[in-house]
Amino acid sequence: MCGIVGYTGDKQAAPILLAGLEKLEYRGYDSAGLAVRKGKSLPEIVKAKGRLIALKEKTNAGKAIHGNCGIGHTRWATHGEPSELNAHPHATEDREVVGVHNGIIENYQELREKLIKKGYSFYSDTDTEVAVKLVHYYYENYGQNPIDSLARAMTRIRGTYALAFMFKEYPEEIYVARQDNPMILGQGVGETFVASDVPALLPYTRQVYYIGNQEMARLHKGEITFYNIDQEVIEKELIEIKWDAEAAEKGGYEHFMMKEIYEQPRAVRDTVNAVLKNGRIDLSDAGLDEKTIRSIGRIYIVACGSAYHAGVAMQYVMEELARIPVRVELASEFRYRNPILEENSFVIIISQSGETADSLAALRLSKEQKIPTLAIVNVVGSTIAREADHVFYTLAGPEIAVATTKAYSAQLIAGNLLSIQFAYAKGKLDEKRYKELIEALQKLPEQIQKVLDDEKERIQWFASKYANAKDVFFIGRGIDYAVGMEGSLKLKEISYIHSEAYAAGELKHGTISLIEDGILVVSVLTQKELYEKMISNMVEVKCRGAYLVAVTMAGNYKVEDTVNFALYIPETEECFTPSLAVIPLQLLGYYVSVSKGLDVDKPRNLAKSVTVE
Ligand code: F6R
Repeated sequence: MCGIVGYTGDKQAAPILLAGLEKLEYRGYDSAGLAVRKGKSLPEIVKAKGRLIALKEKTNAGKAIHGNCGIGHTRWATHGEPSELNAHPHATEDREVVGVHNGIIENYQELREKLIKKGYSFYSDTDTEVAVKLVHYYYENYGQNPIDSLARAMTRIRGTYALAFMFKEYPEEIYVARQDNPMILGQGVGETFVASDVPALLPYTRQVYYIGNQEMARLHKGEITFYNIDQEVIEKELIEIKWDAEAAEKGGYEHFMMKEIYEQPRAVRDTVNAVLKNGRIDLSDAGLDEKTIRSIGRIYIVACGSAYHAGVAMQYVMEELARIPVRVELASEFRYRNPILEENSFVIIISQSGETADSLAALRLSKEQKIPTLAIVNVVGSTIAREADHVFYTLAGPEIAVATTKAYSAQLIAGNLLSIQFAYAKGKLDEKRYKELIEALQKLPEQIQKVLDDEKERIQWFASKYANAKDVFFIGRGIDYAVGMEGSLKLKEISYIHSEAYAAGELKHGTISLIEDGILVVSVLTQKELYEKMISNMVEVKCRGAYLVAVTMAGNYKVEDTVNFALYIPETEECFTPSLAVIPLQLLGYYVSVSKGLDVDKPRNLAKSVTVE
């Protein structure tokens, strides 16, 4: 969701900014722009609607704009349609102050009206132009001091932001400020960078600073100074990014999504191995000891999108193994429903990015109520990771495709590991069963690989035949319903086909009226006890014309008497089947999208990191 890149150093800035924006393309955007200045000259601003290629063409890949200091932006429209006018950077008429912004300024109308009374006029519909003019107002009226004007503006702005500004009287300098929106600063030799995410910086530096909420920084060539809201200089720790730069490249795959699907065995193995010590699960890195676990009486899992689906699966596993009551909630609902959190509750927030606005708000609400929190997060140093009491890192590595695959799989595994350990600490598992469950988890990577090897080509063929489907249903019972939810989201978000996940037993209560000739119904049936009940539900839709696909355990070959197309996964513990059953569904979504010629990695209207409500 929106991307910011900034550079100040001795090199030509525009090509660096464009390369950085390219690395942030996965975040989702609909227009882009640059502001670059050479020495004391006023910045040159170039913007273009649509893909970055349009901006590259306009600037001859950046070669046509001269200067060694600049800021760039990819915009995902919130206020005002996607257009060149609304694209960032925004500036005052005299280009004295130029800025880019990620996030949402909630009181922008009120600020805009106040500024109009002070004589300002506005050319765009954006909240960002309001921020730029507000900063300009303080800059002009309080002694042209960038840090002072940003600090004053921050006390007036309500909402979330990552801001990067240039001021006319301060050549070769960039000023940034942050509130609840990701932003990192890169330290090079004789050059400094700012970006919304790590991949934009990796080609230039691995030395970064995380800027905190309500903090600001001044970037000069090779120098960064941090300030708190009281404008006092503060110290920050320089952190080395350990990612391999190649992890954020396609590495020969046509799309990031396929590369990430294939990285799942590795992501799962790394996530398991990170907490296994001498064959036992050790949660001490997350700060969870047996005493803390034993004190937990109820768990709330809160998340959005696929992370929520991983939470739904975790609910089944945790309740089954540890017998702790679990409630799973959508973060956007949880935060506004004034939840009653009992004293012995424990809140688990699941988030790949660690920056999702609603999940962050849910975390803060839980902390305000003095409920201990654990974050299952993929991005190290993200806001949710920094604010939660306990952190369990999934080791999926950088995920670039908008549709999550490997991070979701790593979240499932995190949920399994926590459930096993909670069950053990609560005395619900004996030593033998504990070991069996861990062994089953350790086998999952090779089993995921097997599903990829065995089923990929058949799914590719099937997807090309059914790419024109109009409606698809995913049905399942119990934990299979959780997998269906994820399968349905994968398909709809990248193929734009309407699809719904339904608890199979619920179909008869209304939705079955939608079933007619040729409607595709994907059934997930991995649970022995529910197998026959699932077959009955499948027969009910089949006799109303549905075309049936099944994902089931190898050995259940009799399913072919009922379905038109069957996909098989290897035998594992029943509560771990989601890790295997989701693989064919991810492949289905991927290949349908490819067959339709769509932009798999950057589906329309979507953003990788949803930092606004
Ligand atoms: C779907 C997808 C989203 C995210 C959701 C939460 O493929 O990726 O539904 O799962 O936006 O994002 P995080 O996990 O970053 O909080």
